[in-house]
Formats: sequence, C-alpha cells, structure tokens
Amino acid sequence: MNLLFFLSGSSISFAKEEVISLLDSSSKKYETVYAEGQLLIVKISKPDISFLSRLGLTHFVLDIVSDLVVDETFNKLLSKIEWGLYLNVDRTFKVRVKNKDNKEYGNLELIIAKSISKYFEDKIKADLTNPSDEIIGVIFKKRIFIGKKIFERNKKDFNKRKPQLRPFFSPTSIDPRIARAMINISQAQNEILDPFTGTGGILIEAGLIGLNTYGIDIEEKSVIGTKTNLSNYGISNYDIRIGDARKIFDIFGRRFESIVTDAPYGRSTKIDKDKEKMYIDCFSSILESFKRRCVIGLDREYPFDEIGFRIENIYSFRVHKSLTRYFHILSR
Ligand SMILES: C[S@@+](CC[C@H](N)C(=O)[O-])C[C@H]1O[C@@H](n2cnc3c(N)ncnc32)[C@H](O)[C@@H]1O
Repeated sequence: MNLLFFLSGSSISFAKEEVISLLDSSSKKYETVYAEGQLLIVKISKPDISFLSRLGLTHFVLDIVSDLVVDETFNKLLSKIEWGLYLNVDRTFKVRVKNKDNKEYGNLELIIAKSISKYFEDKIKADLTNPSDEIIGVIFKKRIFIGKKIFERNKKDFNKRKPQLRPFFSPTSIDPRIARAMINISQAQNEILDPFTGTGGILIEAGLIGLNTYGIDIEEKSVIGTKTNLSNYGISNYDIRIGDARKIFDIFGRRFESIVTDAPYGRSTKIDKDKEKMYIDCFSSILESFKRRCVIGLDREYPFDEIGFRIENIYSFRVHKSLTRYFHILSR
C-alpha cells in the first residue's frame, strides 16, 4: 500500500517530521518512496491507518491507485486501472484534481470520472456534494498521482479552536495545527505534560486525540483558564496544577511519557527577571521528567545539548516581524 500525504504548504518539513514521527512511534514497517514539495509518499506493508486521524499538518492522505505521466499515453493507461479494487457500484464517487488550472491537460476530473464510469459499465453513480468515496488526482511535475482519499483533515474543526475563539485567551498561544504536530512529533501514545500550560493550547490538541493531559503554570489564572478551555472542548482527562516548572518532579512525583511546551518569552508573557537562569533550571527539570521525547518552542535556538538533551532537530516558524518560533525536537 502506497500512501500519499499532501502536506501543509506553509510548514512542509515540520509536516513531514509529524508523519514520520507517527510512523516511527507506531513501529510500522514503512519506506519513504518519494518526498518532494508538498508530497510525501510512503510504502507501508501492514496497513493500520488509524493513526491518520491524529494528523495536524497534512491536508489529506491518498491510497495511491496509479501514478501516471500526463502525455499522449495517459488515456490508455487510465483505462487499465482496476477501479474495482478501490470503488464499488453500491457506493457513489467524486473525482477532484488538485492544480488542475494547468489547461494543457484538459479537464482531467472529467476524463478520470469517465474512465471510472466505463470500468463499471455506467452502473456506478457520481455524487458531487456528498460522495461515499473520493478519488483525488494531484498534478506534480508533469505527473498525476491518483488515489482514493482515506483521510482529510477537518479544517473547520481546527479553525474553531484558534486561540482567539477559546473562552480563556492569550495572543501568545500556538496555532492548533502546529500544536497537534508538536504532540505527534513527541511520539506520545498515552500522556503529555505541558509545564508552561498558559491557556492550554497544546493540551487541548493532546486531549482531543485521547491522551491524558497534565499541566503546570505558575499563575493561578492560567490554571483556571486552561481547565475552562479544556472543558469547553469536551476534554475531562486532565490534571492541571499551580506550580513552578523548575520543580516538575516535586509537583507530580513521577516522570511523563512526553513533554511538549512553548516556553515563556517575549513581552506578553510574565517571566522571571533572570530569564537565562530560569531557562536552565526549568529545562533541567524537564530533562529529568520525560521518558520518550520532548518538543520545546522558544523564540530562538537554544543549546539544549549543553544541559544534557540530545537535539534531534530544530524547525523555525516566522510568526510575525518580531517573532520567529524555534521548535526543538529533543531526546536523551
Ligand atoms: C508562552 S506561555 C505558554 C503558551 C501556551 N502554550 C498556550 O497555548 O497558551 C507561558 C506560560 O508560562 C507560565 N510560566 C512562566 N514561568 C513559569 C514557571 N517558572 N513555571 C511554570 N509556568 C510558568 C506563564 O504564567 C504563562 O502562562
């Protein structure tokens, strides 16, 4: 089974890291077949695709039916596709082609739909508004990757969770898609701790994919606000405590599978006068409190290796003119 992940264009490498981290953590056997632009194609031998519903930075995933060059051979090769392996006469279908504006290829949606109808001897029905199955073609560098859609990210749901729409709001909170990707990159299967919970933006995304959520914040209003926000999105499996991130082990008395956080920085966050000392103490406390992986956001690259972490990767995101966030992927 070859899966095509159509990655978010604004953060391609982070989106790719999210997919690969999920595949690695689920110990599936897989092989990257193609990775260019927004496309990531992965061959999976034993397909268990339940993990796809966790994705934050992938627009959709296709089970690839065929990969064709768009030239004079196209129609002939299209007619050889065994559509019966992917579609069913008892169900309806729709064909959608991405980047179809390239007029030189003609109306590829119609051409593919006709080929499907012909295969099923006109017995299969198209439904453009509410199809049971969707065939998507992605044109990229003169090729078209055709596949059956097996996952599509729910854009509306993510938009409903934007920071400004939550009951307890702070402008420093991270976009929910990015927060979701951070959690997936942490490879957590059971639980997440955010030691600077703020408004709970990271914990909301963790709770929605069924992880137990744990949080610490030094301010009582953030603890109350995080609980309000989590409840607002129907999340009840949380334990949020007032405390100092320098003392994670004292607060919870145990280590956590993964720690995902956006550390305090900038003018809108209340932080200690001696920021550098605070960072060293908090990050040392994080180092002794996680088992698997950490993802830590900061407004600059930080030498986590000097504290004892292993830096696996660093990704940067420009938020606005005066803020770029750096996400550090850390292990031991
Ligand atoms: C950058 S915000 C976290 C943003 C968060 N990811 C969100 O979605 O809202 C930083 C938070 O860290 C808290 N904080 C600052 N210093 C702390 C410390 N030493 N221990 C625990 N929390 C702290 C602040 O009260 C603030 O709520």
